[in-house]
Amino acid sequence: MSWSWVLLLLVVAVAGLLRWRRTAWYWLTFGVTLASLRVLIRYASVMDACGLTVPPSRWRLALTRMANRPVPESRPPRILRLRPTRTGLVVRLKLRPGQDAFDVSAACDRLRHSFAMYGVTSRELRSGVVELRMTGYDVLKRVQMPAKVEREPMRVPVALREDGAVHYRDYRTVPHALTLGATKSGKSVYQRNLVTELAGQDVALVGIDCKQGVELFPLARRFSALADNPDTAADLLDALVQHMEGVYQLIRTEQRITADVPDAEIAADIFDLPDDLRPVPIVVLVDEVAELALFATKEEEKRRDRIITALARLAQLGRAAGIYLEICGQRFGSELGKGITMLRAQLTGRTAHRVNDESSANMAFGDIAPDAVLAAIQIPTDTPGIAVAGDSSGGWARIRTPHTTLRQAVNVCNRHADRTPDLPALAPFRPVLPNLTKVPAPAVEPAPATV
Ligand SMILES: Nc1ncnc2c1ncn2[C@@H]1O[C@H](COP(=O)(O)OP(=O)(O)OP(=O)(O)O)[C@@H](O)[C@H]1O
Ligand SMILES: [Mg+2]
Repeated sequence: MSWSWVLLLLVVAVAGLLRWRRTAWYWLTFGVTLASLRVLIRYASVMDACGLTVPPSRWRLALTRMANRPVPESRPPRILRLRPTRTGLVVRLKLRPGQDAFDVSAACDRLRHSFAMYGVTSRELRSGVVELRMTGYDVLKRVQMPAKVEREPMRVPVALREDGAVHYRDYRTVPHALTLGATKSGKSVYQRNLVTELAGQDVALVGIDCKQGVELFPLARRFSALADNPDTAADLLDALVQHMEGVYQLIRTEQRITADVPDAEIAADIFDLPDDLRPVPIVVLVDEVAELALFATKEEEKRRDRIITALARLAQLGRAAGIYLEICGQRFGSELGKGITMLRAQLTGRTAHRVNDESSANMAFGDIAPDAVLAAIQIPTDTPGIAVAGDSSGGWARIRTPHTTLRQAVNVCNRHADRTPDLPALAPFRPVLPNLTKVPAPAVEPAPATV
């Protein structure tokens, strides 16, 4: 056997091994070239088989008839650009007259099989131009965020989408969000990712964690205020409403609208204020929100009403004062009492992790993207962290956060502890750090020792 055969065998063996054990590396080394060739070579026949071609136009038929040449074939959309990416291919197509973006999106599954790709999604870029995003492997199986991601103030990367793009949480465009999911579906890890990304920004973090603080208290060094039970949460939310009113007073005094102030300089939210006056934006993270809405006694009912009213006020008025809500829970529906659906309507960003029934998924998407409901129910139990993220425009995508452990999040928060702003209105709720290290022994019987 000659050396060239040995070399070829070695390359095939390495490719096979990479494909089996390291799909991302396989894609970068062999997959991307093979897939690009496959798409370019099979393009015309696949488009024809998928019903994405148009018959020749009248003038082409007339010209060929005059020239006495054979009838021209149907034509597929023109490829404007084929761009390989870290996870797949991006193909930009110019549609032929008579085709529309829906034709392409309806054929995505057929294209996926025909081009032997893992996933294909399409979106319209502008009239007549459609982008096909193809992924070469399951990018959500082991999430690796790209080394270079855009980081802007109040816009943080939080997960990877199934088409390989980065999913951002942009507080300036979607101020408030709701994250739902059954137990152990990945809500707290999603929230932990948000905290680690926000930790490095000029933002105050406020947390309400009614699971006795197990998720957020370890990150306390980066939090300006924390509450671990509904009573403290009620006082904390009242303090936030007071802070919001103070910020509005500040904006009003700074507006000074006179005839010679240009429109663009009239302050309408904190980001229009000069740097030295601008209050720091606040992200309020609420984990296990249903705990805040449950009550057993008359006193607790009063507290519940106070909490829901404060949350609804923050959701309605908080945006311009730079207060953003990030609410997580297992369910968030009308069975939690009055005011809940009104509050939910204000939470524009929706993310649903795995849910156990249709009605839970409906709480996230029923009123904005009904087909996302089905996608949320179909998330398998063995892939925690996978979620369906939608917005009020009706669009949605499957996403998964990188698995950030509590240790990693604590390290990031400790590193950025000096960025924690002191907000006078929230001073009583600032976590007392020396107390945090002492963990009282659990009041449960130890398990009997096995012999
Ligand atoms: N993105 C992810 N990638 C891999 N594993 C994940 C991911 N997200 C969550 N997990 C796994 O799922 C477990 C449960 O996640 P998490 O605590 O976030 O669930 P939860 O929805 O908050 O549950 P609960 O409602 O009980 O608080 C985590 O300990 C982790 O092992
Ligand atoms: Mg949780």
